[in-house]
Amino acid sequence: MSLKVNFRYCDKYIGNDIAAMQQEISAAHALLRNGTGAGSDYLGWVDLPVNYDKEEFARIKKAADKIKSDSEVLVVLGIGGSYLGARAAIEFIKSNNYNLIKKDTPDIYYGGNTLSSSAVAELVSLIDGRDFSVNVISKSGTTTETAVAFRIFKKLCEDRYGKEEAAKRIYVTTDRQKGALKALADKEGYETFVVPDDVGGRYSVLTAVGLLPIAAAGIDIDKLMLGAADARERYMNADISSNECYKYAAVRNILYRAGKKIEIMTSYEPSVTMWNEWLKQLFGESEGKDGKGIYPSSVIFSTDLHSMGQYIQQGERDLFETVLWVENPSADYAVPFDETDGDGLNFLAGRSMHSINKNAHDGTVLAHFDGEVPNILITVDRQDEYSLGEMIYFFELACGISGYVLGVNPFNQPGVESYKKNMFALLGKPGYEAEAEKLKTRLD
Ligand code: PA5
Repeated sequence: MSLKVNFRYCDKYIGNDIAAMQQEISAAHALLRNGTGAGSDYLGWVDLPVNYDKEEFARIKKAADKIKSDSEVLVVLGIGGSYLGARAAIEFIKSNNYNLIKKDTPDIYYGGNTLSSSAVAELVSLIDGRDFSVNVISKSGTTTETAVAFRIFKKLCEDRYGKEEAAKRIYVTTDRQKGALKALADKEGYETFVVPDDVGGRYSVLTAVGLLPIAAAGIDIDKLMLGAADARERYMNADISSNECYKYAAVRNILYRAGKKIEIMTSYEPSVTMWNEWLKQLFGESEGKDGKGIYPSSVIFSTDLHSMGQYIQQGERDLFETVLWVENPSADYAVPFDETDGDGLNFLAGRSMHSINKNAHDGTVLAHFDGEVPNILITVDRQDEYSLGEMIYFFELACGISGYVLGVNPFNQPGVESYKKNMFALLGKPGYEAEAEKLKTRLD
């Protein structure tokens, strides 16, 4: 196993509370494992690393190979849980500059996650003159952002390649049976992949939702599943003293009850930025309801020490940090020696950048701890498929358990509907006429 958790820099906030939490954790464990808690229809992710459709898995690899062979660009259309996991994985393992690095896999652009016309126009111009495929991902098949973008890219694809060839370049990931997208895919003859009924969007990265774009980026999805499967095995038991995942869930709740209401997902690698975005959705959408929930935020250090460092050190004391440290960088670099030493940096000459980054990490953990910001330290060996699989499972499980301890349904997202209702009314969607009248008086 590569993932380790260190609670030393929040021990003083935990005290004896951790033993007292065992009962609550055991109750949450029972709800999750027996499927007796709220949202139990959405527990498919729990066994997904070992219980997945092997035939579809093979088809995903085949489709990824075809995309790699016939496309310079893969356009991934999806929003929220339907794109964040894939993007987080690709950037974590390959680079946050994935599209700029030298590679033998297609560039990947993400669309259908915004209603910004500027962003859509830019994406259209980015594929100009380049061979492309489209993977449209939507469990419901009706999400406006994604559906509007798909109309645009379907037309572009058909205009470029003709209807028949376009149908071979459009891959649809959606519900097995229902929804407008499934009906359209069947009608047009697109290859389809399934978002299982019992897996919600933010828990779907290890389904075709994440796996097809991830495989198209040249990432080994077998190793990814293996890391997740090993984590599933490791975090099976309910005992907090031996289950670090459950302990993390317990500590989050202890800190929350002590007034630490904001969790900052911290890392020292820029390629972790989108992973943090995935975590923010996972925790924010799972826990933020019924007037409760830890607010998830994120920083990349040392970059953000020069923007958010002041606040974290001395602002409101309602923060705690979950810090991800990668032991072995994908490459290291030594600080050069300079004869003149004009900048006085020769004391660092020959030092590896990673070791300097580690000093920044250690110094910051201690400073923030001294500033009353508890730090939970998570380390992984390296940014590879196996570690990422472990991380995905660790955080999904921690989130489910933490949500049950918090007393919410961690698997629904009723609040997301409110903006949609207003938007549909204002757009004039049939059936929303009465709502539209009410809203218009409020906007005058
Ligand atoms: O986690 C979730 O359920 C959401 O973020 C959804 O993934 C997101 O709203 C997109 O939904 P859909 O896949 O139905 O287009």
